[in-house]
Amino acid sequence: MSVAMEREQEFQFGQADFAKLQSLVYEKTGIVLKDQKKNMVYGRLARRLRTLKLSAFSDYINFIETPAGADEMGNLINAITTNLTKFFREDHHFEHFRSVAMKESFDALRSGKQKRIRVWSAGCSSGEEPYSIAMSMVSAIPKIEKLDAKILATDLDTNMLDTGRAGLYKSNCLDTISKEYTKRFTKIVDDGYVQISPKLRQFIAFKQLNLLHNWPMKGPFDVIFCRNVMIYFDNPTKQRLVDGFASMLRPGGWLYIGHSESLLNQSGPFKLHGRTTYRKEL
Ligand SMILES: C[S@@+](CC[C@H](N)C(=O)[O-])C[C@H]1O[C@@H](n2cnc3c(N)ncnc32)[C@H](O)[C@@H]1O
Repeated sequence: MSVAMEREQEFQFGQADFAKLQSLVYEKTGIVLKDQKKNMVYGRLARRLRTLKLSAFSDYINFIETPAGADEMGNLINAITTNLTKFFREDHHFEHFRSVAMKESFDALRSGKQKRIRVWSAGCSSGEEPYSIAMSMVSAIPKIEKLDAKILATDLDTNMLDTGRAGLYKSNCLDTISKEYTKRFTKIVDDGYVQISPKLRQFIAFKQLNLLHNWPMKGPFDVIFCRNVMIYFDNPTKQRLVDGFASMLRPGGWLYIGHSESLLNQSGPFKLHGRTTYRKEL
């Protein structure tokens, strides 16, 4: 018997329950749970059922729909989202960001064309992406603490945002951070953990934002990172997001997306400039 089948004996999880969860998750997050993800969903939610002392997924779904279970929706979403990330993931983006995007922003600031620098990490997970952005930004721009430069880091998953705010990571995270940045921006703390320095953390605001809902920020942003997020969405949702990013970026601003993603027909004002790197036309 497979591990999944053995597990299925602990809680009843019928096809109708899965279908209900698929539509609930789609409605709340835009995430499309394909049919082959049933075992994954079982595995990720089993702990919630155990905690709530429920014996079947149908009870869990009924519970969520009662007023008493309203708060459980956040736990469901946190359990379902895939948060895989690491520092300097797809590092060519950070090289481009530092040497091209930030150089342009800095030149615009110096010439008085622009007064501030704004970067958005949309779907920032546990913070490794916005901290990689911050390290690259600080190293690209001299005396940046005297300028109006900020990074907005948003995600749907509140547990991930808490990790990001704490800026505390297992020390093996340093495997993908250069020696120079490690020395400059991190500090070893007890028990095999490292902490991101407060000087770097000051540039980042972590906020909960569901990309499907209205975006309260005004922008414009110089750069948006939305990497490995749209991959979970269907085409109409992607299109809405890409249109939204276009209106949030300043002309000439940059959009980085994940390595297996592309804008294809959804590109609007964006033009491809190298691997998964798009620019909003001037
Ligand atoms: C795989 S992680 C990507 C993290 C990072 N951008 C990277 O590439 O390393 C995807 C993130 O998207 C977030 N996410 C999924 N649906 C979302 C939505 N509707 N609104 C905001 N964030 C969402 C998840 O919570 C998760 O943290």
